[in-house]
Amino acid sequence: MNMQAKHTADATTAEESLAIQAEQAKFDSKAATDVAMQNTLLTPRFYTTDFDELDAIDVSPVREDWDKLIAQMVSDPNKGHFKKNEAWGHVDWEGMDPALKKEFIDFLISSCTAEFSGCVLYKEMKRRGSNADITQLFQLMARDEARHAGFINDALREAGVAVNLGFLTQKKKYTYFRPKFIYYATYLSEKIGYARYITIFRHLEANPEHRFHPIFKWFEEWCNDEFSHGEAFALLMKTDHKLTSGRNVLWIKFFLTAVYATMYVRDHQRPAFHKALGVDPDWYAHEVFTKTSKLSEQIFPITLDIEHPKWQPTLEKLQRANVDLDAARKQGGFMGFVKKLGAQARAASAFATLYFIPAQKHQVPESTRLEPAY
Ligand SMILES: [Fe+2]
Ligand SMILES: [Fe+2]
Repeated sequence: MNMQAKHTADATTAEESLAIQAEQAKFDSKAATDVAMQNTLLTPRFYTTDFDELDAIDVSPVREDWDKLIAQMVSDPNKGHFKKNEAWGHVDWEGMDPALKKEFIDFLISSCTAEFSGCVLYKEMKRRGSNADITQLFQLMARDEARHAGFINDALREAGVAVNLGFLTQKKKYTYFRPKFIYYATYLSEKIGYARYITIFRHLEANPEHRFHPIFKWFEEWCNDEFSHGEAFALLMKTDHKLTSGRNVLWIKFFLTAVYATMYVRDHQRPAFHKALGVDPDWYAHEVFTKTSKLSEQIFPITLDIEHPKWQPTLEKLQRANVDLDAARKQGGFMGFVKKLGAQARAASAFATLYFIPAQKHQVPESTRLEPAY
């Protein structure tokens, strides 16, 4: 790239951002891309859906809120933001504790894959659709996610690793989800993403000595993007009452349980990372679940009862089953296989227990509109 080359932070479309990243891809490392290629229950996946059904959504019932949200996204308050500047400073990768470095790089790769997964899905919707409202929204969201992924890749590149996003687009397996499952899963991942980023940001504001890497300074504007994306999905769901009532409430409960449980188990795989941040992962999970539940009351008629006496102990059971599952996989052979089955059964039973804890019901407000308040 020449000196005048544009940065992903300034790109105004996902296509432009990805072209910049393709140019950088020659420096990308195989190891990081291999990690991003993994498809397990706990790693970020790539999704595809019925794009025609999505394209057929009529946003007239939510037109007023829709236009406000789109106008705000078009104004692009974060253009140019996701780029290293003086506030970045020097990152001492060499001096970083090896356990922390490993977990942190894993965190960055997994975050980058998740951001990019959103980008790929949104960009595809924009490409396939003909509904002006829908394609505009998805183009704007793809723009943001491409910047986010590009910025994480900047951070990784300093550590000598980076994810080859072009390769991922071509080769990573795509999971098909019906549109309504995309709404539930993506809405939740945007809102929980907001809650995760803002909780870390506020914590590090109060305890700056724990800010072991500069990327956390960018989390506030970052989470505001995710917040808007969540708002958009809330409005999409609001166009059709059926999506959030009747039997679909059982699906909503399923996705809430799956998203919360995945976060809990995945975060507990990174003890050194949380210790460096000065964050107890149990406290963090509870904080993030509380915020996400509060936000999701804007559209979901139920929230999970995370104060129920069975909730926390069952999450811990699920987490231990996952640790044992991992060990069994590594052990291999017949004994490994038997242990794997046992651990899988315990994980499934823990998940079922979480799912069947009675949910809390409430009235959904007339308008979904929310502002980031944490
Ligand atoms: Fe993002
Ligand atoms: Fe997002």
